[in-house]
Amino acid sequence: MNVAVIGSGYVGLVVGACLAESGNDVVSADIDERKIERLNQGEVPIYEPGLEPLIENNLKAGRLRYTTDVVTAVRLSDIIFIAVGTPPGEDGSADLQHVLAVARTIGEAMNGEKIVITKSTVPVGTAKLVRAEIEAHTDFTVHVCSNPEFLKEGAAVEDFMKPDRVVLGVDSEFAGEVLKDLYAPFVRSGASILLMDVPSAEITKYAANAMLATRISFMNMIARLCEVTGADVNHVRAGIGSDERIGSAFLYPGVGYGGSCFPKDVKALIRTTRENGVDASILEAVEHTNDGQKQLLLDRIVERFGENLSGRSFAVWGLAFKPNTDDMREAPSLVTIEGLLARGASVTAHDPVAMDEARRHLGTRVTFAATNYDTLNGADALVIHTEWQPYRNPDFARIKTALREPVVFDGRNLWDPEDMARHGFEYTCVGRHSARPHVREG
Ligand SMILES: NC(=O)c1ccc[n+]([C@@H]2O[C@H](COP(=O)([O-])OP(=O)(O)OC[C@H]3O[C@@H](n4cnc5c(N)ncnc54)[C@H](O)[C@@H]3O)[C@@H](O)[C@H]2O)c1
Repeated sequence: MNVAVIGSGYVGLVVGACLAESGNDVVSADIDERKIERLNQGEVPIYEPGLEPLIENNLKAGRLRYTTDVVTAVRLSDIIFIAVGTPPGEDGSADLQHVLAVARTIGEAMNGEKIVITKSTVPVGTAKLVRAEIEAHTDFTVHVCSNPEFLKEGAAVEDFMKPDRVVLGVDSEFAGEVLKDLYAPFVRSGASILLMDVPSAEITKYAANAMLATRISFMNMIARLCEVTGADVNHVRAGIGSDERIGSAFLYPGVGYGGSCFPKDVKALIRTTRENGVDASILEAVEHTNDGQKQLLLDRIVERFGENLSGRSFAVWGLAFKPNTDDMREAPSLVTIEGLLARGASVTAHDPVAMDEARRHLGTRVTFAATNYDTLNGADALVIHTEWQPYRNPDFARIKTALREPVVFDGRNLWDPEDMARHGFEYTCVGRHSARPHVREG
């Protein structure tokens, strides 16, 4: 099939490459000239495991190409995915300007019957706006469908190739049949294709992200209760996660959710819910709890060292909002680091892949170290933000020797408090008792 993917960000790049891999002819378009130039030179502008070889192979095979010419991409294709950003507007609602700009371009470029699919996360009712924008500029038939994307950054290729399910909100039987064929190669192991009306598909995406964000905020609240009462959130998590009605995923407390999706999608769903006269208080509480949780490490550091941190230095391990991505959007690490800098501290940070992105947010105000151990020299404490695999089993003696004081603030519960006490650390984690160094008798 001839497919255009408009918008070559995290989602568009993955969708385009995976659809090319299954044999389609794909044109991936973006208005960002620098990005397209880099892609055409074989350089992948984001870190996403497995994406680079997929792009390279499909470019070579001639099934995938990148262009800034959105009009030609539309003209060459029967199926057009809109995968541009939908950032939060000032009032928290999803800003649809990029989606509608693409719809206008599609309308102007239409040269036959086409299926247009919103892949971007958009509020219920957006497909109607997209249709109106396209039909204002053409008499050709257009099918406007919603196919929300559930991929996870860090496992995006795997998620697209082997989805849990494919949600297709369609406006005609014809569009449903074509899209089922397009997705058939990805559901051979039994995942379902869920055909539904367009508004249900639009709401499904927000409901999924809001549910996951709710689980995170819920567990962060329980973690706070555990701390105050002397309970251990790890036991509570195992105790509830083994109930098959609850399940064990997304029950890890930490420093709050971040990234490009949960924060903006929860905000947008609050807005849509309120606009439709429905009480949004569950979602408001989820957001409120998360805002507080992103302050957690900073609060703990200030409790320990005082408000004035001038002359102090902190080592930060992990900057990305989660492991296996370089995405720094709404990363909790930024809240801690900005708070430390504002109080006069200096910060040396490490992340296995997100340091270039972090530099765009923090500039030269932070020192970036080549290895995680290089952050430590003379620092007052080590602060953990991201549970990267290589941080899990470090040389504790080396950490202890390098730090000015053996103090660790762990926002991801990487280590066991008892073990940390035995290693001689003052260790603060989330929802578990904090540890003080064991003092040897005699
Ligand atoms: N990132 C994720 O994990 C994820 C997962 C599921 C859904 N989504 C949703 O998918 C959408 C895209 O997210 P993303 O993370 O890929 O965004 P992104 O910011 O990484 O990429 C968006 C791209 O669209 C391009 N663009 C903007 N206007 C354009 C136009 N008029 N014509 C062509 N290109 C244009 C931008 O230059 C940019 O490259 C959002 O709605 C997001 O909520 C994201």
